[in-house]
Amino acid sequence: MRLHPVDIKTLTPEVFRVFGTQNALVTAGDQSGCNTMTIGWCQLGRLWNLPVCTVYVRPERYTYQFMESHDYFTVSVLPAGEKKTMQVCGTRSGRDIDKVKACGLTLCYGAGGAPFFDEAEWVLVCKKAYVQDMDPACVLDQKQIPPFYGEKGGGWHRIYTGQVVEAYTK
Ligand SMILES: Cc1cc2nc3c(=O)[nH]c(=O)nc-3n(C[C@H](O)[C@H](O)[C@H](O)COP(=O)(O)O)c2cc1C
Repeated sequence: MRLHPVDIKTLTPEVFRVFGTQNALVTAGDQSGCNTMTIGWCQLGRLWNLPVCTVYVRPERYTYQFMESHDYFTVSVLPAGEKKTMQVCGTRSGRDIDKVKACGLTLCYGAGGAPFFDEAEWVLVCKKAYVQDMDPACVLDQKQIPPFYGEKGGGWHRIYTGQVVEAYTK
C-alpha cells in the first residue's frame, strides 16, 4: 500500500481544523435585522451536483427564527484569536444583547442580502436548499443517543443544507 495515514487536519485543513477549534458564526437576517451565533458543527461538500454547506440549529436558538424567515444564511470563520467573540456569540442570546455591536463586528451583505462579517478569514453565503429536523428514530444505536439531547441536553437540531452561492476570503 502506498497510502499512509495522515492527520485529517492536514489533509482537509479548513473543515476539520476549523470546526472543533476556532469554529464559526452562522448568521441569518437582512439589513433590517439579523442574528449570529457560534456553531461547532458543519459539513461542506457536494449534493445534487451543487457545492453545499450544512449547519445544525436548535429551535430554541434566537438565530433559528432568522434561519426560518430568510432564504439565505452565512458561515463566517473568524481568525483563531477571536476567542472572546466566539464565546460571547456561543453563550449569549440575541434576545438579550446585540451581539454584533457587543463584539464590534462589521456587517457586510452578500447574495440575497445575507449578512456576514468583515472580520472573517473566510465566508460562505448559502441559499437554503434542504431543511429537515433531526429524527431521534434515525439514530441507529438507540442505546447511544448522543448526550446533547434529552433532559441534560436540549431539543433536536434542525438541519439546514444550503447551496454555497458565494465565498469570500482575504
Ligand atoms: C463552541 C460552540 C459551538 C456551538 N455549536 C452550535 C451548533 O452547531 N448548533 C446550535 O444550535 N448551537 C450551537 N452552539 C450554541 C449557540 O451558539 C448558543 O446557544 C447561542 O447563545 C445561541 O444564540 P442565539 O439565541 O442568539 O441564537 C454552540 C456554542 C458553542 C460555544
